[in-house]
Amino acid sequence: MAYRSLAKPAIIGTWMSSAKGFPILMLIPAILYMFIWSVMANKLGTAFPLFVTDGHGLKVAAEGAIIYGGLFPGDFTIDPIFGLVFVFMVFAFAGGIATMLRGFESIPKTFIVGRGKEPSFLCCLIETLKVEVAQHSRFQNCGQEEKDVQRFTGHLFVFYAFIALMIVTSVVAVGHWFGAFFLQHLMGIEGGLAGLIAWAGHTPMPLWSPVKLLANAGAVALVYGLLKLTSRRTALDAAKSTSNWYDWYLLTVIWGIALTGIGSEIFRLIGQKMLAYPTYYLHLIFVFMMLAYLPWSKLGHVVYRTVALAYARKIGRLPMGEL
Ligand code: HEM
Repeated sequence: MAYRSLAKPAIIGTWMSSAKGFPILMLIPAILYMFIWSVMANKLGTAFPLFVTDGHGLKVAAEGAIIYGGLFPGDFTIDPIFGLVFVFMVFAFAGGIATMLRGFESIPKTFIVGRGKEPSFLCCLIETLKVEVAQHSRFQNCGQEEKDVQRFTGHLFVFYAFIALMIVTSVVAVGHWFGAFFLQHLMGIEGGLAGLIAWAGHTPMPLWSPVKLLANAGAVALVYGLLKLTSRRTALDAAKSTSNWYDWYLLTVIWGIALTGIGSEIFRLIGQKMLAYPTYYLHLIFVFMMLAYLPWSKLGHVVYRTVALAYARKIGRLPMGEL
């Protein structure tokens, strides 16, 4: 499909299309995070540290606990890298959309009799989004066969799991940057609401924290949804082998995120540092692979398709005001 080569560099779309490209895509974040791990291991004197709190910071101690943020510091490594990955992703999408729209210009124009003023692109985009949301609710009308039901339930669970995990990530970010850094550190407000905001985002969280409960519910929903989508795709493969590696890429990466995320939590809880840190390292790699390469993946298609439909409305190929 052409949309995987819309964003530049197009080679990423090519790597994504064959199993052989997977290790290359993995190698980029693997080297990056290994560099951070090596530098920190050198600084801390061990690659598998245990920590105790020391004032506002952490210090290595033989009888301490596994704290991922001690080995991969959020403030200086994880947060800025994911920030840059996000910016890279947005620019890649913008480039891909521009290429697509340029391609449309060569298509013969539609001549419309009796059309009023051409609607703005923004109006068309809003209209398209409305239609897309409505169609999502009609997803289940696509078919009643076992594989159709599996696809609907699978997507729904993965979708809500991501929303739950996104809320958790936002609470952690707001708790850390707004609560602990801005309110407590910069403004010097310790207790009350500032303390509560900072506490809500502090990791690792106690298992009874509502945020952690939401994270764990998200994890269960994610695995359930993935099981449904995987069994559907395996059945499809057996029936008519329409799937290729490109169809499996996203599923593999999201499985990677889910299993390494759950593994990170379990190995931390049972105190297995030799398993916990490598699993968390893999978690970071898979999250990077999902976010950074989004404009070339199947999920990118959702964005391009929405813009293409909005464009079709703008030039009058699709009607406004109809679902
Ligand atoms: C696409 C985004 C992500 C998804 C879908 C995801 C998913 C998950 C899941 C399902 C778990 C296990 C359940 C739990 O949270 O307690 C988990 C754990 C974890 N994730 Fe992620 N994750 C994502 C991004 C990230 C990012 C960006 C980081 C930060 C650096 C991160 C750090 C962690 C950590 C530290 C754990 C272990 C929690 C613990 O030790 O209790 N995750 N993740």
